[in-house]
Amino acid sequence: MVVQDIQKLLETRASLVYVVSEEEERVEKIVASAASKVLGKSAVPYTWSCLEGLRKGTEVIDATTDPVRALAAYLKIKDSSPLVFKDLHLVLDGNAPLVRQLKECARILRPSRRTVFFVCPHMVLSSELLPIFRVVDVPLPTFDELSRMLDGAIDIMPEAKSLRQSVTPDLKAKLARAALGFTAYEALDAFRSALMNRDAVTIECVDAVLAEKRAMVEKSGVLEFVTSETGTWEIGGLFNLKKWLSERGEAFSPDVAKYGLKPPKGILVMGVSGCGKSLAVKAIATYWKLPLLRLDMGRVYDGLAGLPEEAMRKAIKTAEAVAPCVLWIDEIEAGIANQKQKAAGGSESRVLALFLTWMQEKTAPVFVGATANEVEVLPPEVLRKGRFDELFYLGLPTKEERKEILSIHMRKLHLDPDQYDMDYLAASTEGHNGAELEQGVVSAVFEARAQDAKVTEHLLANCLRNVVPLSRTMRERIEKIEAWARDRAMKASLTVFDSRN
Ligand SMILES: Nc1ncnc2c1ncn2[C@@H]1O[C@H](COP(=O)(O)OP(=O)(O)OP(=O)(O)O)[C@@H](O)[C@H]1O
Ligand SMILES: [Mg+2]
Repeated sequence: MVVQDIQKLLETRASLVYVVSEEEERVEKIVASAASKVLGKSAVPYTWSCLEGLRKGTEVIDATTDPVRALAAYLKIKDSSPLVFKDLHLVLDGNAPLVRQLKECARILRPSRRTVFFVCPHMVLSSELLPIFRVVDVPLPTFDELSRMLDGAIDIMPEAKSLRQSVTPDLKAKLARAALGFTAYEALDAFRSALMNRDAVTIECVDAVLAEKRAMVEKSGVLEFVTSETGTWEIGGLFNLKKWLSERGEAFSPDVAKYGLKPPKGILVMGVSGCGKSLAVKAIATYWKLPLLRLDMGRVYDGLAGLPEEAMRKAIKTAEAVAPCVLWIDEIEAGIANQKQKAAGGSESRVLALFLTWMQEKTAPVFVGATANEVEVLPPEVLRKGRFDELFYLGLPTKEERKEILSIHMRKLHLDPDQYDMDYLAASTEGHNGAELEQGVVSAVFEARAQDAKVTEHLLANCLRNVVPLSRTMRERIEKIEAWARDRAMKASLTVFDSRN
């Protein structure tokens, strides 16, 4: 795929190409293979780095560690070999002669068949330079590429023969799938360390690669690999949401394509605090048996994981590589509220635009489960059809739902709901959200243990009554959220707009 992209750029005589990739060696190989196909076997690429200067294979061109002189030297060369230029991100900042030289290169190379590929881990081009470059994003290795890398890794192990004999097609596929999301370096490293000191390939090797993957996902700085044990059966109420999920249970199996169906893009779960929004998204991953990656929008914007746009791009790339998976964006409006305060054109609006375009166009089976509290700040483009498949509103639980939620939390603490008057407990907790019901049950158990007594119905009712529900202190706010949701005809939990029944 990437080889074809690079080939096309060579065929169409692109002059300056900016390749966003952390994998210099892989890009070098891709350019070399594309150049030999398009320009012939003799078109071995030149390379430049700030340490080695300009070189072609073992032939070093003297006095070219300075990037301006290196590009000048390349312009004088007569053969049509492309140049793979590394380190631009390290030498461009404040280098006015280099900016000028890049513009000269674009002008001089335009009528020729020669191309310079700048390989950088992130985007450093200013708006002044961007128009003279073609930008290519190199996707991470595919399943097939990883399978080939695995063969290569096995071949160089001391016990190669017995490893080759023991690896079944199933284990091979599992190992390659476990490495999806890795760069080529990372995949080779993970394979090598998983196979080290072994004479047979076993399921433990897959676990070892998965453990590395977990570390890798977390290294991205904005994504977290969440281990979720929440099943939908641990969520009370939310009938419509559960029905929607169960109807799409097969959505991520390979068979879905057979019926011409596409996997769903995602849902936006909005509503009152403590009603189970985060819980619902976690349950989706468990229910569909998919890995769950949590994207921290706050981290995307705070700059600690790199420039916001880069952080978002990286998160998307990693999620796509790990696909099929659930990408959980908790409190999606955190970033959007921010971006409203900033002038349009700032990195925040670009991050949102990037995310929305991706949502619209994505084909990779990444199911986005987004949650939002401050629904009013969501701009209409987030809610437009084509982005999320469905918008769910989670309101305060109804009496029946409260009964279910109380039962779930009582069972978790080894209390048998059949021994209690659940109708009475549910009726006396009108206005409580799921989190508050849970809190009441937990404090009853604590209190009983402190007194070395049983959890009586009376104690339970008292403890539940002592929890002051948010709906009382924030009545106006909740009514506003409900009105907002109702006006937009959101699909909601069965009887969500009336918690008093
Ligand atoms: N419908 C429910 N069934 C069972 N437990 C629930 C339900 N709703 C909430 N809870 C309990 O309350 C806890 C908090 O819920 P959760 O974090 O999902 O709420 P939230 O809507 O994401 O709130 P916030 O807006 O504050 O993030 C859950 O971990 C769960 O124990
Ligand atoms: Mg939450």
